[in-house]
Amino acid sequence: MSAESKYQHILETKKAVLLSIESSCDETAAAVVENGRTVLSNVVHTQIPLHQEFGGVVPEIASRNHVEMITPVVSRALEEAHLKLEDLDGIAVTHGPGLVGSLLIGLTFAKSLAFAADLPLACVNHLASHIAANYLTFPDLEPPFTCLIVSGGHSDLVRIDSYNRFTPIGSTRDDAAGEAFDKIARVLGLPYPGGPEMEKLAKEGDPRAIRFHSAFNESDTFDFSFSGLKTAAIHELHVLEEKGETAKKADIAASFQYTLVKILSEKALRAVLENGDSTLALAGGVSANKALRETLAEKCSKNGIRFCCPDFKYCTDNAAMVGSAGFYRLLDAPPDSLSINAYPNLELC
Ligand code: KG4
Ligand code: ZN
Repeated sequence: MSAESKYQHILETKKAVLLSIESSCDETAAAVVENGRTVLSNVVHTQIPLHQEFGGVVPEIASRNHVEMITPVVSRALEEAHLKLEDLDGIAVTHGPGLVGSLLIGLTFAKSLAFAADLPLACVNHLASHIAANYLTFPDLEPPFTCLIVSGGHSDLVRIDSYNRFTPIGSTRDDAAGEAFDKIARVLGLPYPGGPEMEKLAKEGDPRAIRFHSAFNESDTFDFSFSGLKTAAIHELHVLEEKGETAKKADIAASFQYTLVKILSEKALRAVLENGDSTLALAGGVSANKALRETLAEKCSKNGIRFCCPDFKYCTDNAAMVGSAGFYRLLDAPPDSLSINAYPNLELC
């Protein structure tokens, strides 16, 4: 069957087994997903140890490692699903936003496979994939709903009107939530990525020890601003160091996390209520943060809103979420041409 007739078959049956590939930052990932909801395999190779000594992702090192890992990672995803290329109905891949060198490795590999095996290709937005991570965890979840996307590069409130139509509600004016976690962690001497390390340290501290104020975040807007909060947390550390009170680093981590979670959860709840939606979903790497998950779950429950957040293995970058987003993308629009490029600043809406 040609790519064209395979695509027609997907449209007629509303069924597809897709190989999906993700390489937008520092994870080389491949998965096989059936009908956008069932994960047959999910392989993630993380480059974190390679970047740790530099305190953040080094784009050149990331692209080189993607080149080395893409073939073994894709092969393993097919093996674990007990499938061969000829058993697939199509290929889904991230084509933005992200690091251009990293994106190009996954995209070029996916295009080559689609050409060689004559399969339809679906390019998807990385943020749409993070949202779709919820479809893997909640088989009955369907749009419309409101979503808070919090990752290393984004903090967005978005209305999910349908599987492929998104209305922006608010976004960060400066640092993303994950970026603020990572930058403070670095100054506190914690390893990259800082988010999970800050969460661990915060458990030992008092969340009310330091009161961080943020007039902008308390205003009516659905936009966020985290750079002032980040600077205040770093300033607090310098004050403690001058006094020789290094043991209170845990209080800084706990107070920062408490304030960030308060801002994110209050705005997200207000957004879902104003949208008149009955569901709030959480997405992106920071959705792995337990304080954020628990606070949102509690606020939603008090207001009669269903709260969804992805299973931990689908919070940070992975390809299973790409397989879900790619499936719904193919049901809505024809496959992409093999001349498509990567877009490092691709917008969701
Ligand atoms: O979605 P993701 O894997 O990559 C991007 O698309 O950016 O998100 C990575 C971000 C990093 O900033 C990382 O520190 C943060 O998610 N993160 C966390 C936690 N786990 C990952 N932040 C706070 N608490 C966590 N448990
Ligand atoms: Zn991501």
